[in-house]
Amino acid sequence: MTIALIGFMGCGKSSVASLLAQELGCFYFDLDDTIEMEEGRSISEIFQEDGEGAFRAMELEYLDRIISDYKDFPTTMILSLGGGTILQPHCAQLIKENATCIYLKASVKQLVENLNIVGTDNRPLLKEAENLEEKVSQMLAQREECYTKNADIILDIDGLSPQEIAERIAEQL
Ligand code: S3P
Repeated sequence: MTIALIGFMGCGKSSVASLLAQELGCFYFDLDDTIEMEEGRSISEIFQEDGEGAFRAMELEYLDRIISDYKDFPTTMILSLGGGTILQPHCAQLIKENATCIYLKASVKQLVENLNIVGTDNRPLLKEAENLEEKVSQMLAQREECYTKNADIILDIDGLSPQEIAERIAEQL
């Protein structure tokens, strides 16, 4: 079984993936971390040097690779996707065919609060925003339908800690 976590930047996918893996006693992959490790560059460097199109191609390539490598693995795998991964139809198709998809749904207010804590330095689509709240609000409005459409489970996470989110997910599986 593969569980994919989706949602906007700053919703906590990576922290929740790690805690959920602990909770379920299984392992997890963070797609952005995998790309950074394999490419030997940060997400920001990849965007800067090769452009967003190249990064999107990498997302598909590494997602496909992780899914094929672990398809027949006997234990559960948690997969934390980037905030834009599921917007690519080929990635969405791979997730639909191979994973239970959970959307960590947060309000603009909660996302901005989280992003102000974790920072936007390695988030090229946000780091130059003059007004973070406006930018998040505008991007979320464009993406919300896609997140919802691709989710098997939608979890409202406002006010919940990553640990509480992981526990709620574990209860629903
Ligand atoms: C992106 C989200 C980022 C990262 C890249 C693009 C997006 O991941 O993949 O900067 O398009 O939403 P996080 O959601 O982990 O920040």
